[in-house]
Amino acid sequence: MTTAPTRSSSATRRQEGLFRLGKKWRKATLIVHIVSAGAWIGIDVMVAVLVLTGRFGTTDAVRGLAYEALATFVVWPMLTSGLVCLVTGIVLGLGTRWGLLRYWWVAVKLALNLTLCVLILVALRPGMDEVGEYGRSLGTGVPEPLDVSGLFFPPAVSLTTLTLATVLAVAKPWGRIRGARKGGGPR
Ligand code: HEM
Repeated sequence: MTTAPTRSSSATRRQEGLFRLGKKWRKATLIVHIVSAGAWIGIDVMVAVLVLTGRFGTTDAVRGLAYEALATFVVWPMLTSGLVCLVTGIVLGLGTRWGLLRYWWVAVKLALNLTLCVLILVALRPGMDEVGEYGRSLGTGVPEPLDVSGLFFPPAVSLTTLTLATVLAVAKPWGRIRGARKGGGPR
């Protein structure tokens, strides 16, 4: 009697990714992934509130405090949540059949997450010392001139991008990347 040919386990593993996350680890990683994404969005909302308070606050003292808080507390928590989201996303991609560059929705999220983390370091972080100084000078009543109009962009760009990433995560659109190695269904 002949039996139907079966794929060897190493061949199966090659098609599915570097390693497989067990059920518990997958759930735990997914929880950290979603919490870090949520924290990142929350920090962005806080940045938007501080930027708006800095611009439209009722007194110079309030505006100055908002800029000081922005310069002191925002960048590192934002970068940390972005990196945790990135690392857990990569682990989820590699450890499940979704892969990292197998489905468009995962590949695009990877690009968006990397871009945002780089922007935090090269576009947001370098100007923060000046913003803090400006905040302190507002508090003394003798503000040094500084154009802070560009501060509206980081929270606007980041919130839009993270909303898009969340939509991609839930809707999982566009299917498989052509030419990507086969890895079966998602679960
Ligand atoms: C840009 C920020 C990101 C946000 C806001 C985000 C958000 C989410 C959310 C809300 C889910 C849960 C979806 C569901 O269970 O239906 C999810 C799942 C997932 N994310 Fe992300 N993500 C981000 C970045 C990434 C990155 C960089 C990767 C990988 C390169 C990634 C890979 C995945 C994978 C593979 C899943 C499915 C996990 C599973 O079903 O086991 N994500 N993401």
